[in-house]
Amino acid sequence: MTLTPVLSSYWDESESWTLDTYTRHDGYRALRKALAADPDEVIATVKQAGLRGRGGAGFPTGVKWGFIPQDRDGSPAAAKPHYLVVNADESEPGTCKDMPLLLATPHVLVEGVIIAAYAIRAAHAFIYVRGEVVPVLRRLHAAVAEAYAAGYLGHDILGSGFDLELIVHAGAGAYICGEETALLDSLEGRRGQPRLRPPFPAVAGLYACPTVVNNVESIASVPAIIDRGTEWFRSMGSEKSPGFTLYSLSGHVTRPGQYEAPLGVTLRELLAHAGGVRAGHTLKFWTPGGSSTPLLTAEHLDVPLDYENVGAAGSMLGTKALQIFDDTTCVVRAVLRWTEFYAHESCGKCTPCREGTYWLVQLLQRLEDGEAAAGDLDTLLDIADNINGKSFCALGDGAASPIISSLEYFRDEYEQHIRSGCPFDPARSTAWAAPDPTPAGGVR
Ligand SMILES: Cc1cc2nc3c(=O)[nH]c(=O)nc-3n(C[C@H](O)[C@H](O)[C@H](O)COP(=O)(O)O)c2cc1C
Ligand code: SF4
Repeated sequence: MTLTPVLSSYWDESESWTLDTYTRHDGYRALRKALAADPDEVIATVKQAGLRGRGGAGFPTGVKWGFIPQDRDGSPAAAKPHYLVVNADESEPGTCKDMPLLLATPHVLVEGVIIAAYAIRAAHAFIYVRGEVVPVLRRLHAAVAEAYAAGYLGHDILGSGFDLELIVHAGAGAYICGEETALLDSLEGRRGQPRLRPPFPAVAGLYACPTVVNNVESIASVPAIIDRGTEWFRSMGSEKSPGFTLYSLSGHVTRPGQYEAPLGVTLRELLAHAGGVRAGHTLKFWTPGGSSTPLLTAEHLDVPLDYENVGAAGSMLGTKALQIFDDTTCVVRAVLRWTEFYAHESCGKCTPCREGTYWLVQLLQRLEDGEAAAGDLDTLLDIADNINGKSFCALGDGAASPIISSLEYFRDEYEQHIRSGCPFDPARSTAWAAPDPTPAGGVR
């Protein structure tokens, strides 16, 4: 399958982030088309295209926009202001597509924001950006300033009568603030913790008003759909997962980076573009969509990377963050590192996740140190099972999934850690230790 660069088509051009460059590539042409249409028509086009949210869950974007109550509904919620919030918190280990996109072409997001806000009849939009990425924040602020100066933002945009204020907001760097309701709390100035649903953001979101929360890539995909049409978009991907998307290859791969391809491309095909697993090594395991999506192995190289097929293979497409691990990787150590991340980022609101992630780290550390006991794998699974599906938000499920899936595929390696310490670390493995007799439980 060939690559289909759309969002990334001129990332390597000099000053790709300026309004001049964007305009040279037909930037803001889609906005003119959208403003000439009725807002409902714009929603219908995005629905028809079948664009699915790129933030992880794959919820259809046009359907989400259609949930915003409108004046004609006559409901109390419809009388309130509407808000559009772009989720640019990108913090999941392995996920690294939104930040490169914002650095290279921030105007495509700004144009998408204006079209989306017009469609849902919002006069205020926010971009919530992970606070640590200062260069991205600078680029975005500069792009927004350029868009205001050119009359694409503010009062009476391009003489259409549509007004929009766009605010770029820096978060403080918490993974949980990427969860859409925690993000809204954080944006309102509170500590970011997930909210109970219902009510959903479409009814009571930011300041208890109807709100759409969408991922950066979802909104950035909208101008191309409006400009080139739904048929063009649907000519890529499958019936249920149409279009193009950014796949991010990282880890033990020859040429890591962003590979934009139709949904349904396989990892084998992407690896062919990326020069394969690093020289002299073989693929051991990989994540299809970030650390919270269950691991897959070399037997899944030909699974089409779309929402349905990755689900059928026992994982999730998530953010399409393909982290590649070769045969030199200790799976227990990799899972320990992820679990430390989840324990650190757990917001503490619910017991299974707050307590469970702490205990998972203790057990995995014991395994990695060669000090685990025979029953520890059952305890590990039991704790993961008590978090999975029983936590308040999906962070808990994400913490459990590397553990459950790695035990499914690599139980032998876990058992080896119990028998003789970490087989990848001479300092910790009795299998490596010679000539001295090694104490039971391994050498530290
Ligand atoms: C712990 C956690 C972190 C998340 N982080 C992000 C994030 O950084 N960016 C994002 O777009 N979605 C993130 N999500 C998903 C959002 O809750 C939400 O589904 C998404 O922003 C919706 O956008 P979409 O429909 O365009 O995919 C996260 C979810 C959870 C549970
Ligand atoms: S699952 Fe974890 S992050 Fe989510 S609400 Fe519970 S404690 Fe907070």
